[in-house]
Amino acid sequence: MKRVGLLTGGGDCPGLNAVIRAVSKSLLQDHYKVIGFEDGFLGLIENRYRSLSWDAVSGILQQGGTILGSSNKANPFHHPTQKDDATIYTDCSDQTIQNASDLGLEAVVCIGGDGTMTIAKQLMEKGLSVIGVPKTIDNDLYGTDITFGYDTAVSIATEAIDRIHTTASSHHRVMLIEIMGRYAGWLTLGAGLAGGADIILIPEIEYNVDVIAERVLERSRRGRRFSIVAVSEGAKAKGDDFTVQRVVEDSPDKLRLGGISIKLCSEIEDVTGLEARATILGHLQRGGTPSAFDRILATRYGVAAAELVRQQQFGDMVALQGNSITSVAIEEIGGRTRTVDPDHQLIRAATATGVSMGI
Ligand code: F6P
Repeated sequence: MKRVGLLTGGGDCPGLNAVIRAVSKSLLQDHYKVIGFEDGFLGLIENRYRSLSWDAVSGILQQGGTILGSSNKANPFHHPTQKDDATIYTDCSDQTIQNASDLGLEAVVCIGGDGTMTIAKQLMEKGLSVIGVPKTIDNDLYGTDITFGYDTAVSIATEAIDRIHTTASSHHRVMLIEIMGRYAGWLTLGAGLAGGADIILIPEIEYNVDVIAERVLERSRRGRRFSIVAVSEGAKAKGDDFTVQRVVEDSPDKLRLGGISIKLCSEIEDVTGLEARATILGHLQRGGTPSAFDRILATRYGVAAAELVRQQQFGDMVALQGNSITSVAIEEIGGRTRTVDPDHQLIRAATATGVSMGI
């Protein structure tokens, strides 16, 4: 019986279980045995896994998170071990590949974002057969138009903006909503547009606080006594550094962004004299049940990944280009970020409808 492994790496997002289900059900019907590693690459390093039988993957389509657990720290090339009360980092990639080989795995399907694809690429270079599935609410993965998880997160952030609108209007305040996305503005742009934000600030366009203040005051002069600012966690003023909430030393991407909305909130109050409030949406954006779009996309991705296994087309990540599912070489993806082109159609749609991009 042919055997395939599967893992979910990096930050979780809605739709992971839908992919696990689709890969497994598709391969089980072809008499493969599918096993799932627990907690991302950590499970592969520590040989912790479970069987993904038909029963194990039934009833999980609509569940958020991942039944396998995930980790955005685990890295076989940089694995922490305790030695004499000190933490040392070792390369245990050989052992990791040996674990997969001992289990008789034909390939490991790696469901994750940029960090996961970078590790998958390195393991591939050492001989492991891998297949990638693009996940992240940030939508910043190179090679695909849309990652699963993004649509759900846009809906959550849009609902938050809708709700903030009513209280902003009642109290005549400037309301800032801080949205995730790391160094890419897709999530803020999507939710800002859908939620009718007056000002949208993304990392790709460095803002000028005076321009923002003037837009708020101009709205006020026109009798619009409140303003909604959708601000990306990675947004920054021209020449400024990112606002860092914490540094996670043992993570491949150490910086966790957060807090720009609080800083900007007091700057806007100072310049305009208007009352302002900041709301940081945080991990709410990654939680809960996937949207119908993400369930469908995740299922299409999972089925396509299973097809790559059958065709033994290893080293590829499934992708959506236009409305077609295709695949791209993982070696082209790892380490690259797909950011928003400042001339993108969505930016033009925003400015054409009167939205300020803060410049
Ligand atoms: O990449 C997904 C993401 O949610 C980013 O939008 C955010 O910056 C980061 O992960 C948060 O990471 P953590 O879950 O470690 O706080």
